[in-house]
Amino acid sequence: MQLPLVLLLLSLPGCLSIQGPESVRGLEGGSVTVRCDYKPRWETYGKWWCRGAYWELCRTLVRTTGSQLEVKGDRVSIGDNQSHHFLTVTMEKVRQDDTDTYWCGISKSGPDLGAPIRVTIEPEGTLLTTACYPTNGRAGVSSVSYSR
Ligand SMILES: *[C@@H]1O[C@H](CO)[C@@H](O)[C@H](O)[C@H]1NC(C)=O
Repeated sequence: MQLPLVLLLLSLPGCLSIQGPESVRGLEGGSVTVRCDYKPRWETYGKWWCRGAYWELCRTLVRTTGSQLEVKGDRVSIGDNQSHHFLTVTMEKVRQDDTDTYWCGISKSGPDLGAPIRVTIEPEGTLLTTACYPTNGRAGVSSVSYSR
């Protein structure tokens, strides 16, 4: 019974063309940076950052044209590193009401490609704990508190 799942995945090529983190957290007043990696061949296409749980209804906050590599909007900017196939979105002076689902995406003819990212902004003073990663060959846990 595995075949239907494989067919479903093949029918959603957008999910494999661009990928970002499932979720990111930031502190009120600080900034949040999100990186989305995309597959080679999409370098020269426009990239965008959109807000809203529903893809069809989301509001585009900032977009590149493909030749413009960096575009700034209101408290948000997007950069496209075409030689290494990723885009970077930076949200600045974030507020708790910026908490929402966002999408990083690629403009193309036909349906665009996109990946959803849950962005959560915590009140000032919250300690944000990042995932475990090895340090000097040992497993370690890193706690990071962001400042303005
Ligand atoms: C693209 O990313 C690579 C690797 O992070 C970096 O070395 C390079 O300077 C970046 N290029 C631009 C134009 O920012």
